[in-house]
Amino acid sequence: MQLMMQGICKAFAANEVLKAVDFHLDGGEICALLGENGAGKSTLMNILGGVLPADAGVITLDGAQKVFATPTQSLAAGIAFIHQELNLINDLPIYENMFIGRELTKKNGFLDHAEMIRQTGDVFERMGLAIDPRVMVRDLDASYKQIVEISRALLMNARLIIMDEPTTSLTDPEIQRVFAMLRTLRGQGVGIVFISHKLREVIEICDRYAVLRDGVMVAQGRVADTSVSALARHMVGHEVASDAMGHQGTRGEERLRITDLTLEPYYRHVSLTAYAGEVLGITGLLGDGRSELMSTVFGAQGDYQGEIRVMGKAVHIKSTGQAVALGLGYVPRNRKENGIVKDMSIVENGSIVMWPRLTRHGLLDHQAQEKAFDTQRRALSIKLGRTRDPIMSLSGGNQQKVVLAKWLSAEPKILILDNPTQGVDVGAKEEIYDIIRALADANVAVIVLSSEAQEIIRVCDRALVMYHGAVCDEVMGERMTEHEMMRLATGG
Ligand SMILES: Nc1ncnc2c1ncn2[C@@H]1O[C@H](COP(=O)(O)OP(=O)(O)OP(=O)(O)O)[C@@H](O)[C@H]1O
Ligand SMILES: [Mg+2]
Repeated sequence: MQLMMQGICKAFAANEVLKAVDFHLDGGEICALLGENGAGKSTLMNILGGVLPADAGVITLDGAQKVFATPTQSLAAGIAFIHQELNLINDLPIYENMFIGRELTKKNGFLDHAEMIRQTGDVFERMGLAIDPRVMVRDLDASYKQIVEISRALLMNARLIIMDEPTTSLTDPEIQRVFAMLRTLRGQGVGIVFISHKLREVIEICDRYAVLRDGVMVAQGRVADTSVSALARHMVGHEVASDAMGHQGTRGEERLRITDLTLEPYYRHVSLTAYAGEVLGITGLLGDGRSELMSTVFGAQGDYQGEIRVMGKAVHIKSTGQAVALGLGYVPRNRKENGIVKDMSIVENGSIVMWPRLTRHGLLDHQAQEKAFDTQRRALSIKLGRTRDPIMSLSGGNQQKVVLAKWLSAEPKILILDNPTQGVDVGAKEEIYDIIRALADANVAVIVLSSEAQEIIRVCDRALVMYHGAVCDEVMGERMTEHEMMRLATGG
């Protein structure tokens, strides 16, 4: 298999997103497609996947010119696309999702459920997964959904697989499992495009890299000849400074105290305290219960046992509205499902929690809304066309920044951030880390949930490690190392 894309151009209205881009891929290689948020990575792959038409340019597969007008045509040519935003149907079981658009039927024309279940089960076994193919997608955690999408591409026997940020909600052991599959596929001659902002993963798994900056292909080469910092420099166009670690926030008054909190089957007997002026990390592996724990604090599940105190006062938080009124903010981990309102504009999404404050005589003050959002847009350098455009027109990383903007503008006393840099590029990651530290300096109690040890070390004063729904230890100072956190997270 050999793919060539030449002179690809694409504009959205006046916004030129791809400017005569060349890209190529051979069978049996994994090529990283890199670039800042909004650089044009997803757009380029959407053209290859038949999701978007190009304005100009040529695509050839094994020397034959191709035009993919629909995703089905691209799929028929052996190209499987794992999208950045999850693309599964919640109301169907896993196995039916695996065969959407190419369902297996029996001779009498009825769906062959048994065969679809069997083939799905086979792929899961190859991936080392213990998931029942008959489970409804709705009941899966985000990271399992991602794994199901990857399995679906495997099942298609694709010759070329496009993976648009496939590991954003996976933790290390799952990522390793996915990488093992990718190596097997590479060995079988499959070509893989790997889009990611996790540059260490890129170095680990990819053979080649190609970097887009503002719609122009600015660098290409072999991964063996480069480094994380060189890749970051290509993406951003200048050096990316990573601040030294070792924080000493001055601990202020107690803001949040949780005592003996239990919600079966997710977590049990969890106690912790978060203070003003401090960044508290919570880390662990998939299924450790940290996301469920913090969504409880934000009012998502009222039927917990134990005590929650906010600013020293015992409260029973039953709704998110109540949590907001108490001064809590919460950036959830799965942006598409919980973080944004898809039918609303960028500015509406970015200011929704401020609406009560922006309303006069029952009417929303649009000017005040634009002004408040503009402050955050600058602070986070959100890349957008017009603020009234739909949120879905933004690149994934910029959507994440809008979710952050929303909560920053609410000026919470306690801010909970679950996986705050998912899909965010290296430069913007550093900006978000700086903002998190600045919030703590401004006396906010910040809680960061992350499975990336590097992230915890970079931004937190201390961190709790969870294992199977319980806090197993607290690390800080010299003990806050990648090795130690991994040891605790695996129950060691
Ligand atoms: N359907 C659309 N309508 C209008 N503009 C769009 C649309 N899709 C993408 N864009 C714009 O095209 C540019 C490139 O977006 P794209 O999604 O390709 O970026 P990306 O490199 O994948 O970024 P990220 O790392 O954040 O996912 C952005 O400025 C985005 O706002
Ligand atoms: Mg993208």
